[in-house]
Amino acid sequence: MLAYRHAFHAGNHADVLKHLVLTRVLRYMGEKDKPYTLIDTHAGAGGYSVEGRYAQKKGEYGEGIAKLYDRKDLPAPLADYVGLVRAFNPDGQLRQYPGSPAIANLLLRETDRLRAYELHSTDHRILASYLESRPNTQVSDRDGFSAIKAELPSPTRRAALLMDPSYEIKTDYGKVLTALREALERAADTVVMIWYPQLQLLESTQLAARLKASADAGAKKGWLHARLTVAQADERGFGMLGSGMLVVNPPFTLHDELAECLPVLVERLGQYDGANFVLEQKAG
Ligand SMILES: C[S@@+](CC[C@H](N)C(=O)[O-])C[C@H]1O[C@@H](n2cnc3c(N)ncnc32)[C@H](O)[C@@H]1O
Repeated sequence: MLAYRHAFHAGNHADVLKHLVLTRVLRYMGEKDKPYTLIDTHAGAGGYSVEGRYAQKKGEYGEGIAKLYDRKDLPAPLADYVGLVRAFNPDGQLRQYPGSPAIANLLLRETDRLRAYELHSTDHRILASYLESRPNTQVSDRDGFSAIKAELPSPTRRAALLMDPSYEIKTDYGKVLTALREALERAADTVVMIWYPQLQLLESTQLAARLKASADAGAKKGWLHARLTVAQADERGFGMLGSGMLVVNPPFTLHDELAECLPVLVERLGQYDGANFVLEQKAG
């Protein structure tokens, strides 16, 4: 039984980083006429109310998307992502936040394929209903890690993969690593985006280095790592300090786009003086 519900966290600083990167990757993939496949292994419910009970309980979106939503001075890639969030709010007020499948729904063309996996029965039901009429789309209630074997190599050849587990279970760290290796063995040029939480926990602190080593061994076009640290741990060492995205086979445009946006995110979303970012890249 999964306890994690993304509705509590929708629109927080971690979603901002993740969805900014997702938006840039999908924009880039959409520049070529040839269709591509997006595989979203841990898709969530699709969209979330930020006015609802869940989001209001922790108010995390207040420290995330709400700090960007009305800004008119954002760098173009960040303004583009915020524009998608605005498109998800027809009356202009920030009432709903688009999850990764909703961002995909806004950016994928009819010919692009979407494969979304969500294990939680309630969120799966909401997601399946949301994407019901989207062409070339399948929503599965199976384990998202099984998507690697089921979906790769994809019939479109061009593929992007978003792996965004809740890390509710510690074994997710190892599974993500195995899934990346398998994905690169099956299709070495897949654009793989992996989100991870920045916690004071060995599995979390080691993950980026282990993912990079796997990418070094198997990826065609190297990797990019972006991390946004916004908060300090509490006195017991608990709490999420920030989060990171490891992008394997990144678009060549991604580094410069993030170099423009990450300082602004530190400034807008940082919750203490030591807020910072990391941006590093290794060519294939
Ligand atoms: C962080 S949330 C996903 C958020 C979503 N990707 C987004 O950006 O809007 C992680 C989701 O994975 C689901 N989940 C957990 N383990 C899973 C698994 N093994 N396979 C598929 N979904 C899983 C959870 O129910 C949760 O909805």
